[in-house]
Amino acid sequence: MSEFNIFITRAIPQAGIDLLLEKGYKVEVYSGNSAISTNELLKQLQRADALIPLLSDKISKELMKNAPRLKVIANYAVGYNNIDIDYAKRKGIVVTNTPDILTPATADLAWALLMALSKRIVEGDRFVRLGRFKGWEPELLLGADVSGKTVGIIGAGRIGRAFALRAKGFEMDILYVNRTRKFNFEQETGACFVDLETLLSRADFISLHCPLTPETRHLLNADNLRRVKNGAYLINTARGAVIDEQALISALQSGRLAGAGLDVYEFEPHISGELLKMDQVILMPHVGSGTVETRAEMARLCARNIIAVLEGQAAVTPVY
Ligand code: NAP
Ligand code: GLV
Ligand code: GLV
Repeated sequence: MSEFNIFITRAIPQAGIDLLLEKGYKVEVYSGNSAISTNELLKQLQRADALIPLLSDKISKELMKNAPRLKVIANYAVGYNNIDIDYAKRKGIVVTNTPDILTPATADLAWALLMALSKRIVEGDRFVRLGRFKGWEPELLLGADVSGKTVGIIGAGRIGRAFALRAKGFEMDILYVNRTRKFNFEQETGACFVDLETLLSRADFISLHCPLTPETRHLLNADNLRRVKNGAYLINTARGAVIDEQALISALQSGRLAGAGLDVYEFEPHISGELLKMDQVILMPHVGSGTVETRAEMARLCARNIIAVLEGQAAVTPVY
């Protein structure tokens, strides 16, 4: 029987927990139904050899300093902006994430938001339920065409690529910005590498797929949102703080942006009251990877990463 203690900050699909139990590890799952407090997490980290946190758990230097046995943090997410990576590295703690397996689910959500905005799905549903549908009308709830339009992708990584492939299927012109130019991606999707200003001024739909880093915080701000193409739609399934939320609200209020589809928020889980009032905005509760299959696969991958590290092997999907 091994002596390893695994702590998980919230119930995750059993498929992953089972893999850990099969190894004989002691697994403890926080039983609260809201975010674990820093104090409780500190207490648990006194004895944990491995931790599975959520993307909403901030794993700071102070926490890791007080985690004498911690060898691996298996983030239950692909984004890892919640973890002080530099400090983990210095302390020799392995950090892993869940890339690739959640790519289709997340690209699908971004695509669903694009389609729902262009066809005004949520507004139409509300309209019908309120008993307002009195018969076919030539100019009832008109949306925007998608085919033949231009989509701008910010961050052409795994999810950006999957999103572009969907856009290609809809016969859209694709522009992208990325830290580095991606020739394979261009060949596969026909996308054009441009600068941010060009993308914002030409795209009818803009979709964000970059991580949140010091460089991408407020990448979209009051200055450049004023210069988006008139009537463009914005979709954010990346991280809220990539956009200055107040500037986004202004761009929507002025009508410059025709609508937005949001899965993530700058001050999550707080959502601005202004956004809540807007019919042209679709709000989702950060569920990009949220399918039954994908969440189970993420739980398994976290477990496989922990097992690899605790058995002295290389992690399956380390972030560095
Ligand atoms: P990825 O494969 O690492 O792709 C990120 C892309 O962004 C890379 O191509 C990267 O460029 C680019 N990038 C990084 N910094 C940039 C910058 N300053 N300017 C322009 N481009 C930049 O990651 P992924 O798996 O596609 O995931 C992307 C993000 O989506 C995650 O970090 C996470 O925050 C978010 N996400 C959200 C959900 C949800 O539930 N809503 C689900 C999954 C993921 P390089 O190629 O040069 O590195
Ligand atoms: C979700 O937001 C993730 O980063 O996996
Ligand atoms: C609409 O229902 C049409 O037939 O054009």
